[in-house]
Amino acid sequence: MSTNPTRPMKFAYWVPNVSGGLVVSRIPQRTEWNLDYNVLLAQTAEKAGFEYALTQIRFAGSYSAEYQHDSLIFSAGILAKTEKIKIITAILPGIDHPAVVAKRGATADQIFGGRWAINVVSGWNRREFDMLGVQWLEHDERYSRSREFVEILRGSWSQDHFSYVGKYWTLKDYPLRPKPLALPGRPMPEIFQGGNSLAAQKMAAAVSDWYFMNGNTLEGHKEQIDHVAKLAAANGRALRFGANAFVIARETEQEAWDELERIVQSADATAVSDFQEAVKEAGLATAEKKGMWSSATTRDLVQYNEGFKTNLIGTPEQIAERIYSLRRVGVDLVLCGFLHFQEELRFFGERVVPLVRELESAGGAREPAIPAALISPLGGTHISHS
Ligand SMILES: Cc1cc2nc3c(=O)[nH]c(=O)nc-3n(C[C@H](O)[C@H](O)[C@H](O)COP(=O)(O)O)c2cc1C
Repeated sequence: MSTNPTRPMKFAYWVPNVSGGLVVSRIPQRTEWNLDYNVLLAQTAEKAGFEYALTQIRFAGSYSAEYQHDSLIFSAGILAKTEKIKIITAILPGIDHPAVVAKRGATADQIFGGRWAINVVSGWNRREFDMLGVQWLEHDERYSRSREFVEILRGSWSQDHFSYVGKYWTLKDYPLRPKPLALPGRPMPEIFQGGNSLAAQKMAAAVSDWYFMNGNTLEGHKEQIDHVAKLAAANGRALRFGANAFVIARETEQEAWDELERIVQSADATAVSDFQEAVKEAGLATAEKKGMWSSATTRDLVQYNEGFKTNLIGTPEQIAERIYSLRRVGVDLVLCGFLHFQEELRFFGERVVPLVRELESAGGAREPAIPAALISPLGGTHISHS
Protein backbone atom coordinates (compact mmCIF):
# COMPACT_ATOMS: atom_id res chain seq x y z
CA MET A 1 0.00 0.00 0.00
CA SER A 2 1.35 3.42 -0.90
CA THR A 3 0.63 6.09 1.67
CA ASN A 4 1.44 9.55 0.49
CA PRO A 5 -0.36 11.74 3.04
CA THR A 6 -0.70 14.73 0.73
CA ARG A 7 -2.30 12.91 -2.21
CA PRO A 8 -2.39 16.01 -4.40
CA MET A 9 -5.39 16.65 -6.60
CA LYS A 10 -4.79 15.62 -10.19
CA PHE A 11 -5.87 17.72 -13.15
CA ALA A 12 -7.13 16.70 -16.56
CA TYR A 13 -8.70 18.66 -19.40
CA TRP A 14 -11.12 17.84 -22.20
CA VAL A 15 -9.32 17.56 -25.53
CA PRO A 16 -11.26 19.68 -28.03
CA ASN A 17 -11.08 17.03 -30.77
CA VAL A 18 -14.62 17.95 -31.85
CA SER A 19 -15.71 21.36 -33.12
CA GLY A 20 -17.71 23.89 -31.14
CA GLY A 21 -15.87 23.79 -27.82
CA LEU A 22 -17.43 22.56 -24.60
CA VAL A 23 -20.55 24.74 -24.52
CA VAL A 24 -23.64 24.59 -26.71
CA SER A 25 -23.52 28.34 -27.22
CA ARG A 26 -22.95 30.80 -30.02
CA ILE A 27 -20.61 32.87 -27.87
CA PRO A 28 -17.32 33.42 -29.75
CA GLN A 29 -14.73 30.89 -28.57
CA ARG A 30 -11.00 31.00 -29.19
CA THR A 31 -10.82 27.20 -29.16
CA GLU A 32 -9.88 25.14 -32.21
CA TRP A 33 -10.35 21.43 -32.85
CA ASN A 34 -7.44 20.77 -35.20
CA LEU A 35 -4.31 18.81 -34.25
CA ASP A 36 -1.86 21.72 -34.34
CA TYR A 37 -3.92 23.66 -31.81
CA ASN A 38 -4.28 20.56 -29.67
CA VAL A 39 -0.56 19.76 -29.68
CA LEU A 40 0.24 23.26 -28.42
CA LEU A 41 -2.52 22.95 -25.85
CA ALA A 42 -1.17 19.63 -24.56
CA GLN A 43 2.36 21.05 -24.41
CA THR A 44 1.03 23.98 -22.39
CA ALA A 45 -0.95 21.62 -20.17
CA GLU A 46 1.93 19.33 -19.30
CA LYS A 47 3.91 22.35 -18.14
CA ALA A 48 0.92 23.77 -16.28
CA GLY A 49 0.39 20.82 -13.93
CA PHE A 50 -2.07 18.74 -15.94
CA GLU A 51 -1.41 15.00 -15.78
CA TYR A 52 -4.13 13.80 -18.17
CA ALA A 53 -6.17 14.91 -21.17
CA LEU A 54 -9.44 13.23 -22.17
CA THR A 55 -10.58 12.86 -25.78
CA GLN A 56 -14.21 12.61 -26.86
CA ILE A 57 -15.77 9.98 -29.10
CA ARG A 58 -18.58 10.96 -31.45
CA PHE A 59 -19.76 9.73 -34.81
CA ALA A 60 -22.18 12.52 -35.64
CA GLY A 61 -22.82 16.09 -34.64
CA SER A 62 -26.12 16.51 -32.89
CA TYR A 63 -25.96 19.50 -30.63
CA SER A 64 -22.91 21.43 -31.87
CA ALA A 65 -19.79 19.21 -32.38
CA GLU A 66 -20.45 19.33 -36.10
CA TYR A 67 -17.00 17.90 -36.91
CA GLN A 68 -15.44 15.11 -34.87
CA HIS A 69 -11.91 13.72 -35.11
CA ASP A 70 -11.39 10.05 -34.25
CA SER A 71 -10.42 9.76 -30.58
CA LEU A 72 -7.68 7.13 -30.89
CA ILE A 73 -5.84 8.52 -33.91
CA PHE A 74 -6.08 12.00 -32.42
CA SER A 75 -4.68 10.74 -29.10
CA ALA A 76 -1.67 9.27 -30.92
CA GLY A 77 -1.15 12.58 -32.72
CA ILE A 78 -0.92 14.41 -29.40
CA LEU A 79 1.18 11.74 -27.68
CA ALA A 80 3.74 11.91 -30.50
CA LYS A 81 4.45 15.58 -29.79
CA THR A 82 4.39 15.60 -25.98
CA GLU A 83 6.56 14.14 -23.24
CA LYS A 84 4.64 13.72 -20.01
CA ILE A 85 0.92 14.08 -20.41
CA LYS A 86 -1.22 10.93 -20.48
CA ILE A 87 -4.02 10.79 -23.00
CA ILE A 88 -7.27 9.06 -22.13
CA THR A 89 -8.96 7.80 -25.30
CA ALA A 90 -12.76 7.57 -25.27
CA ILE A 91 -14.07 4.31 -26.77
CA LEU A 92 -17.62 3.05 -27.36
CA PRO A 93 -18.10 -0.71 -26.81
CA GLY A 94 -20.33 -2.24 -29.45
CA ILE A 95 -19.12 0.16 -32.08
CA ASP A 96 -15.57 -0.95 -31.20
CA HIS A 97 -14.38 -4.53 -30.62
CA PRO A 98 -12.49 -5.02 -27.32
CA ALA A 99 -9.71 -7.25 -28.71
CA VAL A 100 -8.96 -4.70 -31.42
CA VAL A 101 -8.95 -1.85 -28.92
CA ALA A 102 -6.73 -3.93 -26.60
CA LYS A 103 -4.22 -4.27 -29.44
CA ARG A 104 -4.33 -0.63 -30.54
CA GLY A 105 -4.07 0.52 -26.94
CA ALA A 106 -1.12 -1.78 -26.26
CA THR A 107 0.69 -0.40 -29.31
CA ALA A 108 -0.03 3.21 -28.30
CA ASP A 109 1.15 2.45 -24.77
CA GLN A 110 4.38 0.85 -26.06
CA ILE A 111 5.18 3.63 -28.50
CA PHE A 112 4.42 6.47 -26.12
CA GLY A 113 6.06 5.23 -22.92
CA GLY A 114 3.02 4.08 -20.95
CA ARG A 115 1.09 7.33 -21.40
CA TRP A 116 -2.07 5.79 -22.85
CA ALA A 117 -5.33 5.26 -20.94
CA ILE A 118 -8.93 4.52 -21.95
CA ASN A 119 -12.35 5.97 -21.07
CA VAL A 120 -15.04 3.35 -21.65
CA VAL A 121 -18.30 5.13 -22.44
CA SER A 122 -21.50 3.17 -22.80
CA GLY A 123 -23.48 5.44 -25.11
CA TRP A 124 -26.53 7.65 -24.84
CA ASN A 125 -26.87 8.78 -28.44
CA ARG A 126 -29.07 6.19 -30.09
CA ARG A 127 -28.86 7.96 -33.43
CA GLU A 128 -25.15 7.09 -33.71
CA PHE A 129 -25.80 3.38 -33.21
CA ASP A 130 -28.76 3.33 -35.60
CA MET A 131 -26.75 5.24 -38.18
CA LEU A 132 -23.96 2.62 -38.09
CA GLY A 133 -26.31 -0.35 -37.92
CA VAL A 134 -25.00 -1.38 -34.48
CA GLN A 135 -27.62 -2.87 -32.21
CA TRP A 136 -28.91 -0.39 -29.62
CA LEU A 137 -29.23 -2.18 -26.28
CA GLU A 138 -31.44 -1.00 -23.46
CA HIS A 139 -29.72 1.06 -20.78
CA ASP A 140 -28.52 -1.49 -18.24
CA GLU A 141 -27.58 -4.01 -20.91
CA ARG A 142 -25.22 -1.46 -22.40
CA TYR A 143 -23.34 -1.56 -19.11
CA SER A 144 -23.25 -5.38 -19.12
CA ARG A 145 -21.63 -5.13 -22.54
CA SER A 146 -19.16 -2.50 -21.32
CA ARG A 147 -18.26 -4.72 -18.40
CA GLU A 148 -17.41 -7.58 -20.75
CA PHE A 149 -15.44 -5.11 -22.81
CA VAL A 150 -13.28 -4.20 -19.80
CA GLU A 151 -12.85 -7.85 -18.78
CA ILE A 152 -11.54 -8.57 -22.27
CA LEU A 153 -9.14 -5.63 -22.16
CA ARG A 154 -7.73 -6.79 -18.84
CA GLY A 155 -7.57 -10.44 -19.91
CA SER A 156 -5.83 -9.65 -23.22
CA TRP A 157 -3.36 -7.35 -21.49
CA SER A 158 -2.45 -9.80 -18.73
CA GLN A 159 -2.70 -13.34 -20.16
CA ASP A 160 -0.55 -15.00 -22.80
CA HIS A 161 -3.37 -16.92 -24.45
CA PHE A 162 -6.62 -15.33 -23.48
CA SER A 163 -9.94 -17.07 -24.00
CA TYR A 164 -13.30 -15.61 -23.08
CA VAL A 165 -16.91 -16.63 -23.54
CA GLY A 166 -19.31 -13.79 -22.93
CA LYS A 167 -22.75 -12.74 -24.05
CA TYR A 168 -21.39 -10.22 -26.54
CA TRP A 169 -17.92 -11.44 -27.45
CA THR A 170 -16.03 -14.73 -27.58
CA LEU A 171 -12.24 -14.97 -27.82
CA LYS A 172 -10.17 -18.10 -28.30
CA ASP A 173 -6.46 -18.23 -27.46
CA TYR A 174 -5.78 -14.56 -28.16
CA PRO A 175 -2.01 -14.06 -27.84
CA LEU A 176 -1.82 -10.28 -27.76
CA ARG A 177 1.82 -9.27 -28.27
CA PRO A 178 3.25 -6.92 -27.32
CA LYS A 179 1.35 -6.29 -24.12
CA PRO A 180 1.13 -2.71 -22.90
CA LEU A 181 4.04 -1.49 -20.78
CA ALA A 182 4.03 -2.59 -17.16
CA LEU A 183 5.07 0.39 -15.02
CA PRO A 184 5.56 0.55 -11.26
CA GLY A 185 2.09 0.88 -9.72
CA ARG A 186 0.50 0.63 -13.17
CA PRO A 187 0.57 -2.90 -14.52
CA MET A 188 -1.57 -1.98 -17.52
CA PRO A 189 -3.26 1.16 -18.94
CA GLU A 190 -5.71 2.81 -16.57
CA ILE A 191 -9.38 2.24 -17.28
CA PHE A 192 -11.66 5.24 -16.78
CA GLN A 193 -15.41 5.02 -17.03
CA GLY A 194 -18.14 7.51 -17.93
CA GLY A 195 -21.82 7.18 -16.91
CA ASN A 196 -23.41 7.85 -13.53
CA SER A 197 -26.51 5.63 -13.33
CA LEU A 198 -26.74 2.77 -10.84
CA ALA A 199 -25.72 0.33 -13.61
CA ALA A 200 -22.70 2.53 -14.33
CA GLN A 201 -21.81 2.64 -10.65
CA LYS A 202 -22.00 -1.14 -10.30
CA MET A 203 -19.80 -1.57 -13.34
CA ALA A 204 -17.23 0.92 -12.03
CA ALA A 205 -17.18 -0.81 -8.66
CA ALA A 206 -16.58 -4.16 -10.35
CA VAL A 207 -14.07 -3.44 -13.11
CA SER A 208 -12.93 0.18 -13.59
CA ASP A 209 -9.96 2.03 -12.10
CA TRP A 210 -11.62 5.43 -12.30
CA TYR A 211 -15.22 6.66 -12.10
CA PHE A 212 -15.87 9.94 -13.92
CA MET A 213 -18.72 12.11 -12.68
CA ASN A 214 -20.61 14.78 -14.53
CA GLY A 215 -20.56 18.25 -12.96
CA ASN A 216 -22.41 18.33 -9.64
CA THR A 217 -22.61 20.07 -6.28
CA LEU A 218 -20.11 19.18 -3.57
CA GLU A 219 -22.81 17.16 -1.81
CA GLY A 220 -23.77 15.46 -5.07
CA HIS A 221 -20.18 14.40 -5.68
CA LYS A 222 -19.77 13.20 -2.11
CA GLU A 223 -22.94 11.13 -2.29
CA GLN A 224 -21.78 9.35 -5.44
CA ILE A 225 -18.26 8.79 -4.15
CA ASP A 226 -19.49 7.32 -0.87
CA HIS A 227 -21.89 5.02 -2.68
CA VAL A 228 -19.51 3.80 -5.38
CA ALA A 229 -16.63 3.38 -2.90
CA LYS A 230 -18.91 1.23 -0.76
CA LEU A 231 -19.94 -0.91 -3.74
CA ALA A 232 -16.28 -1.32 -4.70
CA ALA A 233 -15.23 -2.24 -1.17
CA ALA A 234 -17.88 -4.97 -1.19
CA ASN A 235 -16.03 -6.36 -4.24
CA GLY A 236 -12.68 -6.06 -2.46
CA ARG A 237 -11.65 -3.16 -4.67
CA ALA A 238 -10.89 0.55 -4.49
CA LEU A 239 -11.15 3.07 -7.28
CA ARG A 240 -10.54 6.74 -7.89
CA PHE A 241 -12.93 9.53 -8.75
CA GLY A 242 -12.86 12.27 -11.37
CA ALA A 243 -15.27 15.24 -11.39
CA ASN A 244 -16.11 17.36 -14.41
CA ALA A 245 -16.04 21.17 -14.10
CA PHE A 246 -16.32 24.01 -16.56
CA VAL A 247 -13.80 26.48 -15.16
CA ILE A 248 -14.31 30.23 -15.46
CA ALA A 249 -11.43 31.85 -13.58
CA ARG A 250 -11.25 35.64 -13.72
CA GLU A 251 -9.60 38.37 -11.64
CA THR A 252 -12.94 39.24 -10.03
CA GLU A 253 -15.95 37.14 -9.16
CA GLN A 254 -18.20 39.54 -11.07
CA GLU A 255 -16.21 39.07 -14.30
CA ALA A 256 -16.49 35.29 -13.97
CA TRP A 257 -20.25 35.34 -13.42
CA ASP A 258 -20.73 37.84 -16.24
CA GLU A 259 -18.90 35.43 -18.56
CA LEU A 260 -21.16 32.58 -17.49
CA GLU A 261 -24.21 34.74 -18.13
CA ARG A 262 -22.95 35.58 -21.63
CA ILE A 263 -22.42 31.89 -22.38
CA VAL A 264 -25.91 30.99 -21.20
CA GLN A 265 -27.61 33.96 -22.89
CA SER A 266 -25.98 32.98 -26.21
CA ALA A 267 -27.02 29.33 -25.86
CA ASP A 268 -28.18 27.57 -29.00
CA ALA A 269 -31.67 26.83 -27.69
CA THR A 270 -32.61 24.33 -30.43
CA ALA A 271 -29.39 22.36 -30.00
CA VAL A 272 -29.78 22.31 -26.22
CA SER A 273 -33.34 21.04 -26.45
CA ASP A 274 -32.36 18.36 -29.01
CA PHE A 275 -29.66 17.25 -26.62
CA GLN A 276 -32.12 17.25 -23.71
CA GLU A 277 -34.33 14.91 -25.74
CA ALA A 278 -31.48 12.59 -26.78
CA VAL A 279 -30.13 12.13 -23.25
CA LYS A 280 -33.42 10.65 -22.09
CA GLU A 281 -31.76 7.38 -23.17
CA ALA A 282 -29.28 7.83 -20.30
CA GLY A 283 -30.11 7.73 -16.56
CA LEU A 284 -33.76 8.69 -17.17
CA ALA A 285 -34.25 5.40 -19.05
CA THR A 286 -33.52 3.35 -15.92
CA ALA A 287 -35.93 2.06 -13.27
CA GLU A 288 -34.40 4.44 -10.69
CA LYS A 289 -34.43 7.38 -13.15
CA LYS A 290 -30.99 8.38 -11.87
CA GLY A 291 -27.76 9.06 -13.69
CA MET A 292 -26.17 11.69 -15.88
CA TRP A 293 -28.48 14.52 -16.89
CA SER A 294 -31.45 13.06 -14.95
CA SER A 295 -31.87 16.24 -12.90
CA ALA A 296 -30.20 18.73 -15.24
CA THR A 297 -31.94 22.01 -16.04
CA THR A 298 -31.78 23.53 -19.52
CA ARG A 299 -29.18 25.98 -18.20
CA ASP A 300 -27.03 23.13 -16.85
CA LEU A 301 -27.06 21.48 -20.26
CA VAL A 302 -25.48 24.46 -22.02
CA GLN A 303 -22.30 22.74 -20.80
CA TYR A 304 -23.15 19.25 -21.95
CA ASN A 305 -21.48 17.49 -19.02
CA GLU A 306 -23.18 19.78 -16.49
CA GLY A 307 -19.87 21.46 -15.71
CA PHE A 308 -21.32 24.73 -14.37
CA LYS A 309 -22.79 22.88 -11.39
CA THR A 310 -19.35 22.14 -9.90
CA ASN A 311 -19.02 25.90 -9.48
CA LEU A 312 -15.39 26.45 -10.34
CA ILE A 313 -16.46 29.94 -11.34
CA GLY A 314 -14.87 32.97 -9.65
CA THR A 315 -11.43 34.20 -8.67
CA PRO A 316 -8.38 31.90 -8.55
CA GLU A 317 -8.60 31.93 -4.74
CA GLN A 318 -12.28 30.90 -4.68
CA ILE A 319 -11.70 28.17 -7.25
CA ALA A 320 -8.69 26.79 -5.37
CA GLU A 321 -10.75 26.61 -2.15
CA ARG A 322 -13.53 24.72 -3.94
CA ILE A 323 -11.06 22.31 -5.52
CA TYR A 324 -9.61 21.65 -2.10
CA SER A 325 -13.14 20.96 -0.78
CA LEU A 326 -13.64 18.49 -3.63
CA ARG A 327 -10.39 16.81 -2.63
CA ARG A 328 -11.61 16.51 0.93
CA VAL A 329 -14.78 14.67 -0.10
CA GLY A 330 -12.70 12.17 -2.09
CA VAL A 331 -12.40 13.61 -5.60
CA ASP A 332 -8.98 12.56 -6.96
CA LEU A 333 -9.03 14.41 -10.27
CA VAL A 334 -10.73 17.51 -11.67
CA LEU A 335 -11.56 17.29 -15.37
CA CYS A 336 -11.54 20.86 -16.67
CA GLY A 337 -13.27 22.47 -19.62
CA PHE A 338 -12.69 26.11 -20.63
CA LEU A 339 -14.20 28.65 -23.00
CA HIS A 340 -10.91 29.77 -24.58
CA PHE A 341 -8.84 26.67 -23.93
CA GLN A 342 -5.27 27.76 -24.62
CA GLU A 343 -5.19 30.97 -22.60
CA GLU A 344 -7.52 29.84 -19.83
CA LEU A 345 -5.72 26.56 -19.28
CA ARG A 346 -2.43 28.45 -18.93
CA PHE A 347 -4.05 30.94 -16.50
CA PHE A 348 -5.40 28.01 -14.49
CA GLY A 349 -1.94 26.45 -14.31
CA GLU A 350 -0.30 29.72 -13.29
CA ARG A 351 -2.89 31.06 -10.87
CA VAL A 352 -5.08 28.23 -9.55
CA VAL A 353 -2.88 25.12 -9.31
CA PRO A 354 -0.25 26.76 -7.03
CA LEU A 355 -3.00 27.87 -4.63
CA VAL A 356 -4.41 24.35 -4.51
CA ARG A 357 -0.94 23.04 -3.71
CA GLU A 358 -0.61 25.59 -0.88
CA LEU A 359 -3.93 24.52 0.61
CA GLU A 360 -2.95 20.88 0.32
CA SER A 361 0.36 21.34 2.11
CA ALA A 362 -1.24 23.44 4.84
CA GLY A 363 -4.09 21.00 5.40
CA GLY A 364 -2.53 17.68 4.41
CA ALA A 365 -2.96 16.22 7.88
CA ARG A 366 -6.72 16.69 7.67
CA GLU A 367 -7.01 14.55 4.55
CA PRO A 368 -9.37 11.59 4.63
CA ALA A 369 -7.86 8.22 5.42
CA ILE A 370 -6.24 6.54 2.44
CA PRO A 371 -7.92 3.31 1.42
CA ALA A 372 -5.70 0.26 1.07
CA ALA A 373 -4.49 -0.49 -2.42
CA LEU A 374 -6.33 -3.57 -3.52
CA ILE A 375 -5.96 -6.23 -6.10
CA SER A 376 -8.81 -6.45 -8.56
CA PRO A 377 -10.32 -9.91 -8.74
CA LEU A 378 -10.36 -9.51 -12.51
CA GLY A 379 -7.13 -8.50 -14.05
CA GLY A 380 -4.84 -7.99 -11.10
CA THR A 381 -5.21 -4.23 -11.27
CA HIS A 382 -3.18 -2.69 -8.52
CA ILE A 383 -4.75 0.57 -7.46
CA SER A 384 -2.11 2.60 -5.75
CA HIS A 385 -2.59 6.08 -4.38
CA SER A 386 0.37 8.20 -5.29
C1 LIG B 1 -16.26 12.47 -18.25
C2 LIG B 1 -17.21 11.82 -19.19
C3 LIG B 1 -16.86 11.70 -20.52
C4 LIG B 1 -17.72 11.12 -21.44
N1 LIG B 1 -17.35 11.06 -22.76
C5 LIG B 1 -18.21 10.56 -23.66
C6 LIG B 1 -17.85 10.54 -25.06
O1 LIG B 1 -16.78 10.98 -25.45
N2 LIG B 1 -18.77 10.03 -25.93
C7 LIG B 1 -19.98 9.55 -25.54
O2 LIG B 1 -20.75 9.10 -26.38
N3 LIG B 1 -20.34 9.56 -24.22
C8 LIG B 1 -19.48 10.06 -23.29
N4 LIG B 1 -19.85 10.07 -21.96
C9 LIG B 1 -21.18 9.53 -21.61
C10 LIG B 1 -21.20 8.31 -20.72
O3 LIG B 1 -20.19 7.42 -20.96
C11 LIG B 1 -22.50 7.51 -20.66
O4 LIG B 1 -22.64 6.71 -21.77
C12 LIG B 1 -23.75 8.30 -20.56
O5 LIG B 1 -23.57 9.44 -19.87
C13 LIG B 1 -24.88 7.57 -19.85
O6 LIG B 1 -24.69 7.64 -18.49
P1 LIG B 1 -25.67 7.07 -17.39
O7 LIG B 1 -25.02 5.85 -16.85
O8 LIG B 1 -25.72 8.12 -16.32
O9 LIG B 1 -26.97 6.80 -18.02
C14 LIG B 1 -18.99 10.63 -21.02
C15 LIG B 1 -19.32 10.75 -19.66
C16 LIG B 1 -18.46 11.34 -18.76
C17 LIG B 1 -18.87 11.47 -17.32
